[in-house]
Amino acid sequence: MPEPWKSMMNPKSEVQGFEPKFIQRTTVEEVEGVPLLKETVENWGPIWDFQARPDDLLICTYPKAGTTWIQEIVDMVLHGGDAQKCARAPTYERMPFIELCPPKPFTFGFEEAEAMPSPRTLKSHFPVQLVPPSFWKQNCKIIYVARNIKDSAVSYFYFHLMNRGMPEVGTWDQFLKNLLSGKLAYGSWFDHVRGWWEAKDRHPILYLFYEDMKENPAREIRKVAEFLGLEFPEPVLNQIVQHTTFESMKANPMANYSTVPSIVFDNTVGSFMRKGIVGDWKEHFTVAQNEWLDDIYAREMGDSSLTFHTQL
Ligand code: A3P
Repeated sequence: MPEPWKSMMNPKSEVQGFEPKFIQRTTVEEVEGVPLLKETVENWGPIWDFQARPDDLLICTYPKAGTTWIQEIVDMVLHGGDAQKCARAPTYERMPFIELCPPKPFTFGFEEAEAMPSPRTLKSHFPVQLVPPSFWKQNCKIIYVARNIKDSAVSYFYFHLMNRGMPEVGTWDQFLKNLLSGKLAYGSWFDHVRGWWEAKDRHPILYLFYEDMKENPAREIRKVAEFLGLEFPEPVLNQIVQHTTFESMKANPMANYSTVPSIVFDNTVGSFMRKGIVGDWKEHFTVAQNEWLDDIYAREMGDSSLTFHTQL
C-alpha cells in the first residue's frame, strides 16, 4: 500500500517535485452563495460530478463538529472493533475528504476516492445543497454530526490558527463576526445544521450530536452500528468506546493528524486534538459576545425543532 504520509512527514519529502516551504493561506470564494475554500471552487466541475457508489457511506459535518471522532468510530464499527485494522493509515487516507484540493503534487480528495475500492467511507463538510447529486441518486447512507455553535466557533478559530492552509484568521472577535455572518468556509452554521436536519426526513441520514457522543458514547456508537446494519457483543462495544475516547485518539498517530507535515499544521500554535470537551466556549466568549450570539441564535433557530446543548 502506498504510504505518502510517511514522506510528507520527512522534511526532505520524497514526493517528487515537492519543495518543503510554508504553504500560503488561502481565501474563500462562493458556490451558490456558500463560501468554500478557493481550491474547492476552482475544481468545482469534477467535485459536483463526483460519482458516488450505492455502498458508499458519507460522513458529513460543519467543520470542527467531531468529524475525526465519528470517522474513527465508524471505522471501528465497520471493522468489528479491530483497532489494528483501523491503524492501517491515517484518517485522511482511510476516508478521503472529497472536496479537499491540496497543492500539487498531493492528490485531490475526489481523485483519492475515485481510486479507492468499494466499500468506501468518504468525508465532506458540504451543506446539504452542495452534496454531489450522485450521492442522492445512489441513495447512499450518510452520517451527519452537529456540534453546538459556541464550541464549534472556538474550535474552528484554533483550527484556522494552526492550519497554515486556511484563510487569514484575524482576532477572535472578527472571527466570531465572520462565523455568525456566514463568511467562513462552508458558510452559515445555521443553514448547515438546519439544512441537514430537514434532509434527514427524506434520505437515509443518521443525525448525531457531538454533545450526545460526549454524554454517552456507547449509546451513540450503538446507533451508528444499527444504522449500518451491524451488531456486536458488549465487549466489542466497550473496545470501540475505549479506542475512541479523546485521550486514546490524541495518542493515536493514525487518528490525531500528527502525520500532517508542520508546513501545513503548525503544532507550535496548538494541536488538532485540542480539548475535546463541551463548554470550552466559556473560556473564550466575553459576556457581550455571548449575548450577541444568543440574540442571533434565537432569531435564526427560534422556529426550528433542533436543539443543542452548550454544556453537559
Ligand atoms: P476542540 O478543538 O474543541 O478540542 P473535526 O474532526 O470535525 O475537525 O473536529 C475537531 C474537534 O473534535 C476538536 O475539538 C477535537 O479535539 C475534537 N475531537 C476529536 N476527537 C475527539 C474525541 N475522541 N472525543 C471528543 N472530541 C474529539
